[in-house]
Amino acid sequence: MEYDYEKLKSAGRVSKDALLYARTVIKPGRRLIDAAEQIEKFIADKGCKHAFPVNLSTNEQAAHYTPEFDDARIIGEKDVIKVDLGARKDTYLTDCAVTVCLDSEYSSLVDASEKALENAISMVKAGRKVTEIGAEIEKTAKQSGFKVIRNLGGHGISQEDLHANVFIPNFANGDNTALEEGSVIAIEPFITTGIGSVTDGSFLQIFQLASDNTPRSTDAREAQAIIEREFSTYPFAMRWMIKQMGQEFRARKAVAELITIGNLDTFPVLVEKGNGMVAQSEKTLIVTKDACEIVT
Ligand code: CO
Repeated sequence: MEYDYEKLKSAGRVSKDALLYARTVIKPGRRLIDAAEQIEKFIADKGCKHAFPVNLSTNEQAAHYTPEFDDARIIGEKDVIKVDLGARKDTYLTDCAVTVCLDSEYSSLVDASEKALENAISMVKAGRKVTEIGAEIEKTAKQSGFKVIRNLGGHGISQEDLHANVFIPNFANGDNTALEEGSVIAIEPFITTGIGSVTDGSFLQIFQLASDNTPRSTDAREAQAIIEREFSTYPFAMRWMIKQMGQEFRARKAVAELITIGNLDTFPVLVEKGNGMVAQSEKTLIVTKDACEIVT
C-alpha cells in the first residue's frame, strides 16, 4: 500500500499544537497527572489516537515518566519538564518533544537542545550519514558547555513501529548509514549537565504488547483482550489499563502476570547516571532529496 504522507502530516499538526497546549497546562503548583491527562485529551479531541502515553519526565529523568494512577507529584517552581508526545492517525505515527523550563536557571540547557535540533535538521537530506548528524548535535552541545546523552538518540518511524530502521546518534558514532529519500525520522538531542548517559530507574508505568501467550488468570486474560482491542501494539500506560478494568488492584496484578509470561515489553523511567539536569527537543520529519519537510 502507498504511504499516505497526508495522514502523517495531519497527525503532525495535532502533535505540534499539543506541544503548544502543553506549555499552557504545565505550571508550578499543578498536579503532573492533570497536565498529562489534559494533553492526552487535547490529542483525542483533535481526532487522533496516542502513539504512546504522554511522557512528562522531570529534571534528571530523561524519558519514560508518564504519571501513574493518582500520581501525587506537584509541578515545582524550578522543574525542567520534558514533554514527549506522539499522535496517531490510523497507522501513521509522530514523535516530538519540547522541554518546559519553569526557571531561568536552566534556560541555557534548554536552548542548547533546541539549537542542537535546529542544527541537526539543517543537515538532513537524502544520503546524509547518521554519524554526521550526531557529530553536529555533539558539537552544538559542547559549544554550550554541556554533554549529550550518548545512549539515547533519534530513530526511523515506520507505520508499525515508533523506533524502526535507523538509529540517529547524538554523537559521532561512526555509523555511515545514509538517510533515505522519503523516509520518516525523528531527531531528538538529549543535552545534560551530568555525565552523558542514562540508566533504568525503578518507576515503571509504560508497557507494550509483545506476545499473545494465554494467561492463567481470568483477570490477565481480560487485560490481554483489552490491550489487543484498545492499545494494539502501541505503548500504553498503567493508568489507562486501570481505567479500562475499573479496579486498580486487579489491573496491576493482571499486568504483572502478563509481564511474567512474556506478553509485555516494559519501559522503565530513564534517569541520567550523574543525576544531571536533562533537556530534550524532538521533531518528526520526512527526508527529501535536498533537505527535509518538518512534520511536527
Ligand atoms: Co523519539
